[in-house]
Parts: sequence; structure tokens; C-alpha cells
Amino acid sequence: MTKMQISQENQAGELSSAKPSKTLWCAGPIKGPTNRSGGSRADIHLQARDSAAIWAKTQARGDAAPSRLRRHGTGIGARARQVPPLQEILLRSLRRRYRRFRFLLFVHPGRPRRRAQRDPTCALNMERLLEARISSAVGLRHSLGLPSADTNAYRLINSEGDRLSGLIVDIFADVAVIASSAAWVEKYRQEIQFLVSKVNGVSHIKWRPSTDILKEEGLDISEHKEPASTCSTVKVMENGIVYLVSLEGQKTGFYADQRENRYIISLLSKDQRVLDLCCYSGGFALNAAKGGADNVIGIDSSGSALDLANENIVLNELNQGKVSFVKGDATTFMKGAISENELWDLVILDPPKLAPRKKVLQSASGMYRSLNALAMQVVKPGGLLMTCSCSGAMTQSGMFLKTIQGAASMAGRKVTVLRQAGAACDHPIDPAYPEGQYLSNYLLRVA
Ligand SMILES: C[S@@+](CC[C@H](N)C(=O)[O-])C[C@H]1O[C@@H](n2cnc3c(N)ncnc32)[C@H](O)[C@@H]1O
Repeated sequence: MTKMQISQENQAGELSSAKPSKTLWCAGPIKGPTNRSGGSRADIHLQARDSAAIWAKTQARGDAAPSRLRRHGTGIGARARQVPPLQEILLRSLRRRYRRFRFLLFVHPGRPRRRAQRDPTCALNMERLLEARISSAVGLRHSLGLPSADTNAYRLINSEGDRLSGLIVDIFADVAVIASSAAWVEKYRQEIQFLVSKVNGVSHIKWRPSTDILKEEGLDISEHKEPASTCSTVKVMENGIVYLVSLEGQKTGFYADQRENRYIISLLSKDQRVLDLCCYSGGFALNAAKGGADNVIGIDSSGSALDLANENIVLNELNQGKVSFVKGDATTFMKGAISENELWDLVILDPPKLAPRKKVLQSASGMYRSLNALAMQVVKPGGLLMTCSCSGAMTQSGMFLKTIQGAASMAGRKVTVLRQAGAACDHPIDPAYPEGQYLSNYLLRVA
């Protein structure tokens, strides 16, 4: 564990996902009749406005995306005038959101496969059920080789994927970051902390509740103060590269979901000029540098993220003449590069979530198209582009590839798909909950 002073900017919450700005990132409630495809003309107007505001405000403030934790439709909390007792909240949630909670219910009309997996000793015993599911999650990660000698940053519990809807646990060396987005998780906080603290190697726990999502569930914890942490950063290793993780940083502090995709970049970078757009703490850029890139530049609008990225250059003893990070807006940077005819062999584009929900998909897809068209224009003919979308709505719609194709037409370039991927394998998905699929990652050749 290392201690580092949190920068002024960080304290201001630029990177913090604990208090995501709803007005900044999420379209407001859309009223009025809807057509069969789910949107009226008025909706479409609002969607366009909301989505444009998302990206524009991101550019202006260099702000961070809210947690990628899935949101579950409109909340019952919106109607609650005063906070009801916790049991009442849970009962309401259970009634109204059967789908979400069915992962936790022992008795439900599941299919035979599910019934066969159930352990009768867990029936109506929440502690035992939690113990069984957490231990099964640990076993799964062991079978995936996590942690390993060169990776100690990984996802231990992936919500529905581990049959613990609303609970995410990321392990960063000896720290477990627990992200809660369901009332039941808050209710069983002590039990969860106890069980997670028993996982091999864990000696600190950081609890990061999604205050806004919990409010939608009818649980207002905005007054609740988390106990002060003894540390604000931790050093981790991923694929043999060392990272400083801020425990107040975006999402849980580190994007473990891109681990396998970053590794691919390290294999493709030898002697290449690499541009990492929306680089956060430098994940793709550092892999490119380790892979022998000739020159690497990372761009991000968040100063706090770039403080980490710059620390990471030093921690990995990389040649500072070859790797650098620049604070700025990705669109402005690409437009500047195009006007100066600057090109890269390999470009990575990993923007924040631009389609926080289905209703803004249309306008968000316009933003993805424009960004990708710019990114393609800064790739040398015959070079590579790794492009990503972390919007569940975009990934599940199956529209991302079409959007990429639209971008290629806009840029006057021809692309071919070389690889298609999602989140790393420690982010399991239950096929009964396809909404768990959020990350799209395409590797393209840009002719
Ligand atoms: C999904 S994260 C990128 C994760 C990163 N690629 C990694 O591997 O860790 C998106 C990043 O985009 C940055 N960002 C948001 N708006 C931006 C903008 N207008 N220009 C550049 N970066 C932006 C955020 O600060 C955040 O670090």
C-alpha cells in the first residue's frame, strides 16, 4: 500500500464515480407517448439534446463517466416521500424487480439447470447463500489463474455474472473495492465485508456505494459518511505492468475489464507510433510502450487520471522521451492532428459511456460515429484502430459495428475487422441476463 496526497482536482470529485452527476451523464426523464420503437418525436429531440450535452459537458469539464454499474430502469425511490424502513424497501424491491433479485432467491420458477445447482442448505439462509456464492466466485477466478504472479488487479465478483446482482468487488493487490448498487447489498454489508476480508491476500476494504442508484431503490444513504480510509492509492500489477490505482478514481479505481485487450496492444506495438485516446491511467499506452513502441502519446481530459498515468511511467521505468500523456479533449486533439497531417500506426479509442441508456442510443451512435471517423483519419493507411464502447445500450443493440462502418464512410476509409472482444473473462455474464454485456472492443485495419 502506498499513500499519496489526493490532488485538489481529485478531491473535487472529478474522477469520483461515488457521486456521478446525473444531469451531466444521464438523460432526464422523458415523458409523453411512445411509439413502437420506444420513442416519440419529442423523445428523439430530447435524446439528441441529452446525448450531445453528455459529450459536450465531458469536453468542457473533463469529467468522468459515472460507474458502469448497470442502472435498473426507473426507481421506486422517486416516489418515496420519506425513507421507509429497510425491510419495506427490500420487499418493494423484491416485488417490483423480481428480475433483478431472482439471482438471490432460493425458490423461484427457474429452469431445471438452475434448480440442479441449488444447495438446499442455503434455503432462507442469506449468510450461507452469500458464503456459497462468494466462495464460488473465488473458485472461478482461481480456475482462471487469478491472481497470478503478474496480475493482482481483477474482478472478484461481477454482479449478475456471479449471481449477486448489484454487488461488484474488484481486487487491487491487498485492497478489495466493493461497489454496491442494490439495497440488499447495503443491508448485508457487514456479512459481505466479513466474507470478502477472508479472501486470500485481502487486508483492506473500500466500500463504494452508488448513492444515486440506491436512491432509485428507495434507500437514501447520502447522509451516511464512509469511514475515512487509511490509504488513497494502491500499487497493482496487470500483465507485468505496475499501476498506481486511486481508490477514489473512476468506477472502482481501475478498468480491469480491458486487461486482455490491453495485452493485445502490447503484442502489436513493436516499433510503432501509438496514440491512446481517452487513456485514463495509461493502460493501453503503457502496454504499447512495454511492447516496444517507438513513440506513445496518451490523451485524456482528466488531470487526476493523467497524474496517475505519469506516475505509472516512472513506476515502470519507461523512457519518458518515448511515452507522454497530454491533458485535452480527444476530439480537439484529433482535429488538430488532422490539420497537421499527423498520423499513427496504431490508435486506441476508449471513450466514456456515451449511451447511458437505450433512449439516447440514436444520438449517442452519432457521437460514436463522429469520434471514430476522426480516429480513422489519424491512422496511417494500413494501420490499426482498436475502438471501444462501454455503453451497454450500444453493445446490446448490435449497432456498434454498423456505426463503425458509418464512420469509415464518413472518413473515406475502408476498414476490416481483425478481432472482436468484450470484457476480460473475470467479468462473467449470465446468459439469462444479457444486459450484463456492456463492453465492445473491435480491432480494425484501416486502409
Ligand atoms: C472508459 S475510460 C478509459 C479507460 C482506459 N482506456 C483504460 O484502459 O484504463 C474513459 C476515459 O475518457 C476520459 N474522457 C472523458 N471525456 C473525454 C474527452 N472529452 N476527451 C478525452 N478524454 C475524455 C475519462 O476521463 C476517462 O478516463
